[in-house]
Amino acid sequence: MTETWDPEQYEKFSDHRRRPFADLTSRVGASSPATVVDLGCGAGAATLGLAQRWPGARIIGVDSSAEMLDRARGRDTQGRVEWIRSDVESWDPARLGTPVDVIISSSLLQWVPSHLKLIPGWVEALAPGGWFAMQVPGNFNAPSHTLLRDAAMKSPRAAELLPRLARGEAVSEPAVYLFLLAGLGCDVDTWETTYHHVLDPGGLQSDPVLEWTRGTALLPVFDLLTDEAERADFLATYGHGLRKAYPRQPFGTVFAFRRIFTVAHKRA
Ligand SMILES: C[S@@+](CC[C@H](N)C(=O)[O-])C[C@H]1O[C@@H](n2cnc3c(N)ncnc32)[C@H](O)[C@@H]1O
Repeated sequence: MTETWDPEQYEKFSDHRRRPFADLTSRVGASSPATVVDLGCGAGAATLGLAQRWPGARIIGVDSSAEMLDRARGRDTQGRVEWIRSDVESWDPARLGTPVDVIISSSLLQWVPSHLKLIPGWVEALAPGGWFAMQVPGNFNAPSHTLLRDAAMKSPRAAELLPRLARGEAVSEPAVYLFLLAGLGCDVDTWETTYHHVLDPGGLQSDPVLEWTRGTALLPVFDLLTDEAERADFLATYGHGLRKAYPRQPFGTVFAFRRIFTVAHKRA
């Protein structure tokens, strides 16, 4: 199932959303890679950051969303990145015609339930000494998600909504990624972080956590509930729960967000 992405909504919290990408890639030790791939590159700002970090590298961004790639191409005024529209499930690194030195995937694999089966192929495509770095949210039992499932359960369209909201089941615990990648011949660095994002410090939004999830977790709901009244009812139930779970503080709204990171270095 492919969701319809809205780059503008996704980038409303760009400072917060880019932080995990920066934390992930700071642990990638490649000094002058020839070929770098950003899987699920989205609207491309972070991918362009990779081009700045490694000015001599061929940089490739892969994403399934035409909307996100349009935004990425618009940003890439110097044509620095090869933007490829593809589902990562069918993307074949062999088509690049060269081994890859760095593969990055940040905030993508929660959307790809088969990812544990795909990772070995990506590691195989790495040159000796290459790097595979991934980050996934680990917050599917946080109120932002449990309340979403509660609202779906109360909806007259629960039977259609609930299967679309089972994404958390695709994400494994950190040790699973560590063991998988170590078994593939990599030195592995795995960790988790809970960010305490302070949203909307200026108090301009009536419901900042809802604004955040409109850009990601709510996409499968929006794709199904296209009728305005039906969507408004759903958001009223969900938003009510969110305001209680994430009360506004004098300095903003605190949104705790756990994320899981793994950086694997293929032995030379
Ligand atoms: C949450 S955004 C992450 C963007 C960027 N990597 C970042 O760290 O901000 C997830 C991106 O993954 C893409 N995506 C989701 N499922 C995909 C799939 N199966 N194949 C390729 N891209 C996918 C979406 O289109 C979206 O641009």
